[in-house]
Amino acid sequence: MTQPSRHAALRGCFITFRGNPFTMPPEDALHVEEDGLILIRDGIITHCGPYTQVRPFVPHNCPITHYPDSIITAGFIDTHVHYPQMPVIASWGEELLAWLKHYVFPAEARFEDKALAQAVARNFMTELLRNGTTTAAVYCTVHPQSVDAFFEESSRLGTRMIAGKVLMDRNAPDAVRDTAQQGYADSVALIDRWHQNGRQLYAVTPRFAITSTPEQLEMAGALFKSRNDLFMQTHLAETQQECADVATLFPNRSSYLDVYDKAGLVGPRALFGHGIYLNEHDLQRCHTADCTLCHCPTSNLFLGSGIFRLFDVTSKTRPVRTGLGTDVGAGTSLSLLATMAEAYKVSLLAGGAKLHAIQAFWLATAGGAQALHLADKIGTIAPGLEADLCILNPNATPLLTQRVKTSNSMADVLFALMMLGDDRCIQATWVHGTCVHEI
Ligand code: GUN
Ligand code: ZN
Repeated sequence: MTQPSRHAALRGCFITFRGNPFTMPPEDALHVEEDGLILIRDGIITHCGPYTQVRPFVPHNCPITHYPDSIITAGFIDTHVHYPQMPVIASWGEELLAWLKHYVFPAEARFEDKALAQAVARNFMTELLRNGTTTAAVYCTVHPQSVDAFFEESSRLGTRMIAGKVLMDRNAPDAVRDTAQQGYADSVALIDRWHQNGRQLYAVTPRFAITSTPEQLEMAGALFKSRNDLFMQTHLAETQQECADVATLFPNRSSYLDVYDKAGLVGPRALFGHGIYLNEHDLQRCHTADCTLCHCPTSNLFLGSGIFRLFDVTSKTRPVRTGLGTDVGAGTSLSLLATMAEAYKVSLLAGGAKLHAIQAFWLATAGGAQALHLADKIGTIAPGLEADLCILNPNATPLLTQRVKTSNSMADVLFALMMLGDDRCIQATWVHGTCVHEI
């Protein structure tokens, strides 16, 4: 694991959150420190605030890295992504189930080869950091070695990552299928090896209800409940055809969510990708069970899956924890900026409120951390939190430069960044107090 250098200090304008902009006025939730200083020791933020107030605490031998024209934010959090699908991103012409069959399963079959898994994991992590993403909940493949390859790379970089071996024991080709027993045994061994190993965290990962037998879902539920700090990730109610197939496969369940619920898979740290076709009863259950929905707008638009009702899901009367996911390879970008832009457009199509820039940045940072039950470790810039930071350049392109010239508020600059920005705007990325990417 990369050893964080003992001290580091970053000077510049930083933004962080003091509250939830979905439950209070967005401008009150955002804290802006125009000339700030963030002091880090052993990967943890020890001080942050106005430069003049924090400067006396900087040890005399500690250099100060100055970002004078940038905006420093907590690193972005991607709550749903598939690293083995990076090679098949942007594959033409299919809806979910045909896309899985024609593109994804053949691509994932190649991860039997550990060397290939290592090469893709390395490229994937480089791309994440180039996009300012410092934590993600990641699907590997059915092969245990795909998980080892991923966590080995994440450990080398020192990133906080959640990942797991896909469980899939039916309705898939032999090369990407396990059995309930083998999937369970492999997952137990991977949990022993990787969960809470440094910054790595394990998610029990049944792909979705179509590709797991009831027996496999039961075993996944037992595993998820075997420790109170494990994660669980799966897909839920992404397309109408998928929902119809699940109803046929599980005729005795009252809803798609109920399939997972009866298997013991619905609770805190359960992360459900999509959740587009959920009714009020399901959303009530998500709220009381305290599970998480991962909104993946670029994916939902790319596959034509449907429109996520963000403001219904996060409604004050029964809020459901929600994060943003890129869902690459169905998603079309690893950039959380691009994902925020599509979330804004999807919120308009849903006919609810308009997504405010401050709400979008909260979803990608502090809200994402809450969605992952990791807000005590990541997602904000505050003493005691892990120093994962993203340095944004609002002048990265000529178009942005001319656009932000007219801005008279931080919210407007953030809106321009999310609508027009991409990896070119990520001037630097810091992980656990070390700069790991710089333009
Ligand atoms: N549902 C089951 N597997 C997948 C997947 O790999 N991607 C997406 N978007 N949906 C899924
Ligand atoms: Zn997915």
